[in-house]
Amino acid sequence: MSCTAGKAKRLRDADANQTVADAVRPGKKETMVGSDFVAAEPIKWPVQCTIGRGLQDAIACETQIGFVNGARGILSYRGYDIFDLCAQSTFEEVSFLIINGYLPSADELKQYKETLASLRPLPRTLRALGALPIEKMTPMAALRVGIATLRQVVTDVDTQSPDPSHSIDTDADTVPDVTPDSNEDLEVDRAIPATTTLGRKDAYRLVAGMATIVAAIARLRKGLLPVEPRPDLSHAANLLYMITGTVPDEQQARIMDIALIVHGDHGMNASTFAAMVVASTLSDLYASVESGVGALSGPLHGGANEQVLYTLESIGSPERVKEWFKEARAKKKRIMGFGHRVYKTYDPRAKVLKPLAEIVTQNDPKLSTLFATAQALEHEVIEELGDTKNIFPNVDFYSGMIYKALGIEPAMFTPVFAVSRVAGWVARCLEYVKDNRIFRPRAMYTGETSRQYVPLERRGSTTKGA
Ligand code: CMC
Repeated sequence: MSCTAGKAKRLRDADANQTVADAVRPGKKETMVGSDFVAAEPIKWPVQCTIGRGLQDAIACETQIGFVNGARGILSYRGYDIFDLCAQSTFEEVSFLIINGYLPSADELKQYKETLASLRPLPRTLRALGALPIEKMTPMAALRVGIATLRQVVTDVDTQSPDPSHSIDTDADTVPDVTPDSNEDLEVDRAIPATTTLGRKDAYRLVAGMATIVAAIARLRKGLLPVEPRPDLSHAANLLYMITGTVPDEQQARIMDIALIVHGDHGMNASTFAAMVVASTLSDLYASVESGVGALSGPLHGGANEQVLYTLESIGSPERVKEWFKEARAKKKRIMGFGHRVYKTYDPRAKVLKPLAEIVTQNDPKLSTLFATAQALEHEVIEELGDTKNIFPNVDFYSGMIYKALGIEPAMFTPVFAVSRVAGWVARCLEYVKDNRIFRPRAMYTGETSRQYVPLERRGSTTKGA
């Protein structure tokens, strides 16, 4: 069915949010857009909801961190619309906001940036990683090892030196803690012996350290030595610098910054839920984040952006899109970078990223062909699946080509997603454990009942189906 007059066309025509694109152009950073925000109704427990497969529509907890309106394509962090944050904020400010619940004052932001700068260098963790065959591991598997190693180093040092201002080895991964409240904000049931690695100090350490570990993996897998972070660079600029070894220009750093902002948090997505399930056992924040990384690795979640790039490269040019799409539909293929469990309209994050992808790809013939191919594919998919199945581009559709244009290889796209999403993971884990209840859903048993046990000698070749 054609849908040229319907919602799909309106969305396609209205998609390029030039205001956010303007935010990366020098001298145009002040415009406010997209404050079309509707607050969620307060939740009253017990919640009545219809739960579908994959826990669709289940409400697992209350949160004050992020709000997604899938029907209207709205995303906000702590009440601030994603478009406003992308146009005016930075990842440092946004990660502080996500974790602490409010925009930092100038002093708080300065202190937070200093904290992140002090927590970025991880010589011991990187040395341990460097001793492993990183080139033989998938980057996401290496990232899980990196986080586990960071935890080991941190707890080792904490055990040896409980007061970090005293005798920290200058070569150690921990540094004097400049955050005022350290881990004291953990207010889980005091009757339970809570781990000491489930607090804000660890949250900051993970936000800072994830960039260092991911960048080191990007280099180690190519046989290159990790690059030390620079205290004078932003989180986004440091990430690019530590991956490529070259300080990015202002526009590249700002585009990376916005890409980090849009990936910071996103409701009860699979990786956030995985992290929270682990935190709810009062395990620790590192183990929680490791679980988040595990869930994010899948092609239906964070892995899609890498697949999108391969798809676009295999299509080759905008002229080939129609034929490729026809064949893909005939084979009932899922088109990577499209569709979403929650968004039944154009993903606002894709709206932010699309114009940035255009800017960052425009001076390279191969990359601009990739962008043109993406646009043609978007047109075909929306034309056929927009009105009928509410399938539109999601965040992963344009992020991959941005990363590629910024010098990041496809295998590192999902780890780069994790560099940002760690803010949401740690914030939601800390929020949840304050009023903790271990996650423990039930399954509906549909298997056999009352089967007679057959002793081994009487089973024959198999009891399958008996
Ligand atoms: N291409 C073609 N058809 C699709 C697609 C797609 N990408 N996504 C969903 N559909 C169809 C699907 O075939 C089904 O059709 P039918 O009703 O005829 O069986 C219908 O839409 C509903 O699909 P579903 O699998 O029930 O939807 P879901 O909510 O379980 O899936 C999704 C959400 C993201 C897993 C899915 O859209 C998908 O596989 N997309 C491709 C992978 C991708 O881009 N993932 C990144 C998601 S965004 C990043 C993040 O937030 O994690």
